[in-house]
Amino acid sequence: MLSTAPSPSRLLPGFTLGRHRIDPPLVLAPMAGITDLPFRRVCRRFGIGLVVTEMIASRAIEQGRGRTERMAELDREERPISVQIAGSDPTYMQEAAQWAVARGADFVDINMGCPVKKICKQVAGSAMLRDERLVARVLEATVAAVAVPVTLKIRTGWDEASKNVGRIARIAEECGVQLLTVHGRTRSQMFNGHANWEDIGLAKQAVSIPVIGNGDIVDGDSARRMVAASGCDGVMVGRAVQGNPWVLGEVRAALLGEPAPARPSPAERWLVIREHMRHLAEHHGIRTASQLARKHIPWYTKGLPGSSEFRNAFQRLQEWQAQLDAAEAFFLGCDDRFADAA
Ligand SMILES: Cc1cc2nc3c(=O)[nH]c(=O)nc-3n(C[C@H](O)[C@H](O)[C@H](O)COP(=O)(O)O)c2cc1C
Repeated sequence: MLSTAPSPSRLLPGFTLGRHRIDPPLVLAPMAGITDLPFRRVCRRFGIGLVVTEMIASRAIEQGRGRTERMAELDREERPISVQIAGSDPTYMQEAAQWAVARGADFVDINMGCPVKKICKQVAGSAMLRDERLVARVLEATVAAVAVPVTLKIRTGWDEASKNVGRIARIAEECGVQLLTVHGRTRSQMFNGHANWEDIGLAKQAVSIPVIGNGDIVDGDSARRMVAASGCDGVMVGRAVQGNPWVLGEVRAALLGEPAPARPSPAERWLVIREHMRHLAEHHGIRTASQLARKHIPWYTKGLPGSSEFRNAFQRLQEWQAQLDAAEAFFLGCDDRFADAA
């Protein structure tokens, strides 16, 4: 059992959102194509406080696509969970929020941070930060449409010259948003450069709702430094979990003031990966699972001896069982190689 008993060196106390306690205040970032139900299940085992689905476009919901339904499939054990929606039409967003709640969302998260051109062209995602009145209309409408807490995820502005993170934070609070996540980059930065954690602090200073800091957390130390630089109430981890969900255990320990957990051996990693693969096959079917494995398994091998040769050979495998066998042989063989080197 993972304990959340308070430690004197605990960094952040956690907070309440609606009828849920977010404790530890550690959130798995929404990542399209990555944080599907199978991967969220894997991440949950590291004792995190909140997970968010991949972004679901409000128009896609309105068009009722099967894939959209699958994206909103939630697991009882992954609660509390936030379903993320995106769009700029208040009516569609109201319907999308109600649709999410009907599928079991504990919270509805609105994406105003996505930098992708296709989304920004429809004046959604981070493009909305340029139109503060539209931000207010969408937030007010969504908050009014559902009984669960509505949360918002933003970047710090469109570009360096038009940063408006503090103003957007205030608008969000005035509209009834109950939690704000700030990725410390502007839209024009895309994923380049460094996240500016002090800018996350501008949101924190502007509002009294909890603020989650996001951007460039890669271990316990970076989480501690972000908290110090921004004063945020919680942290969100994204890309660092790709192939390394164990990082969540490290960050959790840092937030709780506990010693970092031991790094998993390759054989221990394989147990988690095998579980991930089983969930992938159950949720998506073997064909799609096999495609997704081509992305996830190579990530899992990063930094291990012989990983680049393995990755080259792995990409040529077509069959699901062959993929599993090759991955198992690699990870279990890795332990032998470590023993040889010792
Ligand atoms: C492949 C990928 C997909 C993403 N999809 C989403 C998404 O659906 N919704 C969202 O709000 N942010 C999305 N993001 C942004 C992340 O949630 C996060 O804000 C960003 O990666 C910065 O955090 P990090 O430095 O910890 O990765 C995505 C990022 C990546 C790399």
